[in-house]
Amino acid sequence: MTRIGYIVGSLSSTSINRRLAKALERVAPADIELHEIRIDELPFYTPDADPDYPQVARDFKQAIADVDGVIIVTPEYSRSIPGYLKNALDWASRPWGQNSFTGKPTAVLGTSSGPISAAIAQQHLKSILTHFAAPQLGQPEGFIQSVPGLFTEDGDVTNEETRAFLVAYLQAFKELIERVNRADAR
Ligand SMILES: Cc1cc2nc3c(=O)[nH]c(=O)nc-3n(C[C@H](O)[C@H](O)[C@H](O)COP(=O)(O)O)c2cc1C
Repeated sequence: MTRIGYIVGSLSSTSINRRLAKALERVAPADIELHEIRIDELPFYTPDADPDYPQVARDFKQAIADVDGVIIVTPEYSRSIPGYLKNALDWASRPWGQNSFTGKPTAVLGTSSGPISAAIAQQHLKSILTHFAAPQLGQPEGFIQSVPGLFTEDGDVTNEETRAFLVAYLQAFKELIERVNRADAR
């Protein structure tokens, strides 16, 4: 069983990215277990917390440690990632020398109604993950242009091509995780 955690970069109660994440859960094959790693209860990060991380931040770091890979599903805000997602990544990256993402397979995914579908936010995110030395899924790229009704609230995908893409995306990420694990075992 491959255990994948996903982080949703939107706190909106009507988030289409959350629907997309639910859709991933729905289409996941039997050998992939997906669950959410929440970021909405994290306070703002400050280095003052480094000597004694709050429990909520310890739990967040442990949740990343407990999975084989992390998918970040995010909208684009002002041509970058939302601030609370950056805040979560800052918590994950510290205390110094204990970055939760170092060596952790990652993938980024996002949807918006715009024609370039959160692509710039994903580029920024990839840059951060590169700095973290996190292995990343290169292809397929996760740009999904959303149209109303593409994902239902429960995560049903109403378009067959999108459903097939999400299955292929998960399969490619599972293969990356396996490659990283094999390399680590050597
Ligand atoms: C503060 C803010 C900034 C935004 N900036 C961008 C942007 O730079 N590029 C873009 O494509 N969409 C931008 N949007 C639109 C969101 O990406 C879009 O509403 C998306 O559907 C939000 O995803 P969600 O429903 O999962 O929260 C912005 C929205 C907000 C609230």
